Amino acid sequence: MQQKQGPRRLPRLALVPLCLMAALAQAAPATDPLAPVARWSAYTAGRAATPPMGWSSWNAFGTDIDEVKILGSAQRIVDSGLAAKGYRYINIDDGWATRRELKDGHMVIRADRFPSSAAGGRSTFRPFTDKVHAMGLKAGIYSDLGRNTCSQAYSGDSSDLPKGSVREREIGLYGHIDEDIKLFFADWGFDFIKVDGCGLRAYGANSPKVKSGEYRALTPVLDLESVSRSDIPAVQAEFARINAALQRNNPDGDYLLSLCVWGAANVRAWGKNVGNLSRTSDDITPSWARLLSNFDSAAKRELYGHPGGWNDPDMLYIGKGDFDAAHMVEAKSHFSLWAMLNAPLMLGADLRSTPEALMDIVGNADIIALNQDPAGNQATLAYDADDLQILVKQLASGQKAVAIFNRGLGAIDVDLNAAHLKLRSDAPISLTDLWSKADTTFTNETRIRVAARETRVFRVQGTRLLAQGVYLSEQPGSVNPAVDGVTSPQADPTVFRSSAAWSGTKGAGERPMYAGWGGARADSTPYGQILQVAGNRYPAGIGILANSRLEVRNKDYRRITAQVGVDDSARDRMHGVSFMIYGDGKLLAKSKPMHWGQPAQALSADVAGVKVVELVARSTALHNELLPVTWGGAALLSGSQAD
Ligand code: GLA
Repeated sequence: MQQKQGPRRLPRLALVPLCLMAALAQAAPATDPLAPVARWSAYTAGRAATPPMGWSSWNAFGTDIDEVKILGSAQRIVDSGLAAKGYRYINIDDGWATRRELKDGHMVIRADRFPSSAAGGRSTFRPFTDKVHAMGLKAGIYSDLGRNTCSQAYSGDSSDLPKGSVREREIGLYGHIDEDIKLFFADWGFDFIKVDGCGLRAYGANSPKVKSGEYRALTPVLDLESVSRSDIPAVQAEFARINAALQRNNPDGDYLLSLCVWGAANVRAWGKNVGNLSRTSDDITPSWARLLSNFDSAAKRELYGHPGGWNDPDMLYIGKGDFDAAHMVEAKSHFSLWAMLNAPLMLGADLRSTPEALMDIVGNADIIALNQDPAGNQATLAYDADDLQILVKQLASGQKAVAIFNRGLGAIDVDLNAAHLKLRSDAPISLTDLWSKADTTFTNETRIRVAARETRVFRVQGTRLLAQGVYLSEQPGSVNPAVDGVTSPQADPTVFRSSAAWSGTKGAGERPMYAGWGGARADSTPYGQILQVAGNRYPAGIGILANSRLEVRNKDYRRITAQVGVDDSARDRMHGVSFMIYGDGKLLAKSKPMHWGQPAQALSADVAGVKVVELVARSTALHNELLPVTWGGAALLSGSQAD
């Protein structure tokens, strides 16, 4: 990203003495995290039944923003027909504030850049949001968890940054949550807020800008470079305050809360309970390598995104660098992949000058429809290799979508088969290419050539393997790993480590940094192995660690079934695991204690009329990380398959 300079370094966090930690742990109420809660606990407040679509100023302009630029892009969204296709949010990112008034905390907007804000009395974005709303669009604003923002920390050029005394330049939410949220939503009429985390990350006492007296120190509680060094409860507490303020100031619930802590603080596990979007990685740049990193940071979190709360691998960069009009293959891949991941589709180009060919890419209604599908199932990986991936997305209509992603080393002839799609191999399967619109039909297997960096995307019609049911791994949007068993978060070693544009090749290189290894997975163990119990493989199922609880939303299905056991990949060969199925809080089925090497036990329960099914795997093991368990073939059934 263009504003950051030099490698980022955090001062060491103050270590909490072990005796104090033990005392805190004892003081906590003794609740059983695996006890059924009889409800869907992921975030459903706000307005994110499908991933938000729109435009943000950051990738196009950085802090060099003004209302002409922003409204110009908004106008193109309307004029080009993109608004009618769902692009709605016009988001102002970092760079809008000039100071906070000390007498009452009121925020002052850069009047030279937003002249309408100074038209009468106090600084206000109301004329701006009125214009955006009059265009039929919605408006978004940016703030920070700390006292200061990311550009204040990382920009080498202060011309666009806030002016005044140290206190006047404290434009973040820290200590001002209630008044700022009221100002943004109730007074100024915004509909969306992105809350960045730099203020809780980059202003330690040793940071150069604090040492020089430019900013006040705030002990960092977020550490992107070290998975285990964030103060997670402290970060969560800030978001809890923001949520409470959002509830107070949005009586109609029309808001979106976008968390921007870049996958740090193990946010994967809890961000889905706290906001509508949660960034999974550091910033995207217009480079193919960076796209790979950002894609990877979200692609294996398929069970952590649901209607109401989505994984956010960052905004689109279509229009610049590797995704400009001279790179149509890459631009189409970027759009296709973000659509399959249920990522927010936030355009990041100056639309006033974006070529028609790129506008057509982001206006592809068939691809948009995959992203906006009401079932909200993020695509799952049906085939995974370092050079080639096949992603499959179950749609609400019963059809599927498949994306074949060549990560770029050279053209590949891909054999796509019925098993990848969980369709029957003895019935015709038809594919509609969502870029060329060509239709083809095959049975069992077909060969598809995919060029380097190309993503072929098809809508798929075939006969489902489970004619009267659904594998849980086909509907990740309805499965919430409420407790995923991860007790010591580890960085995911499979995320591509692109060199970061802002630090160049200074330092010793990129390390795995995004907590995610060991999380719940569809059709995979938490560590990327094929699900297998006592030598039996399960092409469909949920892999999760012991001491976990999954919530499954049920509408009309009558029965749930699974083959349960300790996965063969477990390194703990000692501890037993009991598997339980609950329906709206009531115990419906329970396995005997299962040990490594024992054949899976069939578990089944009648769930007719049940709204939330909970799947609990309980063990006395101390180290869940050594004990992956498998809900093999886990499926919800209706009709005769349920009997
Ligand atoms: C962070 C965020 C970016 C952008 C900038 C603004 O780096 O990750 O998306 O908001 O801050 O300074």
